[in-house]
Amino acid sequence: MRGVRAGLLIAGTTAAAAVVAAPLVAQWIRQSHGAELFDGRRPLVARIAGHDERLPPMASRCINCHRGPQATGGILSAEGLTQRIARRGGPPSRYDSGTLCRLLREGIDPAHVMVTRTMPRFDVDDAACAALWAHLSKR
Ligand code: HEC
Repeated sequence: MRGVRAGLLIAGTTAAAAVVAAPLVAQWIRQSHGAELFDGRRPLVARIAGHDERLPPMASRCINCHRGPQATGGILSAEGLTQRIARRGGPPSRYDSGTLCRLLREGIDPAHVMVTRTMPRFDVDDAACAALWAHLSKR
C-alpha cells in the first residue's frame, strides 16, 4: 500500500511539474523562433510598401535597421514597445502582439499612424508575429 501511495505521489508530482513546465517551454520555443526571425536565420518575405517585388531576405532582416549604432529604425526594447509613449506625432500608444502584427503587415502603428516606407511590409503569419513579439517584449 505504501508503494502504491509513493507511486501515486511521484506520478502526481511529475504531472504537476509537466503542467507548470509546458507553458514555459512553449514560451521559450516562441522566443527562440522570434530571435531567429529577428536576426534573419529564418528569412521572412518582405516588400517595400507599394511594390510587388520581394526584397532579398538579407535586406529585410530586422537587425539591419534595429540593432547596433547604425540602427536607422531605432533600437527596439521591451520597455519602449510596451510603455505608452507618443510615436511619430500621434497620441501615446503601446504595442502588444496584435498591434505589432498590424505594423509588420500594413505599416500602421498602434495609434493608427503610418510608418515610413523604409520599414518594409512583411508577410508574417500569426505564429511568426507571436514569436517576434515574444522575442521583442522579453528584452
Ligand atoms: C530597412 C530597414 C528596416 C528593416 C529591415 C526593419 N525595420 Fe522596423 N523600422 C524601420 C524604420 C525606419 C522604422 C521607423 C519608422 C517610422 O518612424 O516611421 C521602423 C519601425 C519599426 C517599429 C515601430 C517602433 C515604434 O516605436 O513605433 C517596429 C516595432 C519595427 N520597426 C519592427 C521591425 C521588425 C520586427 C522587423 C523585422 C521583421 C523590422 N522592423 C525590419 C526600418 C526597418
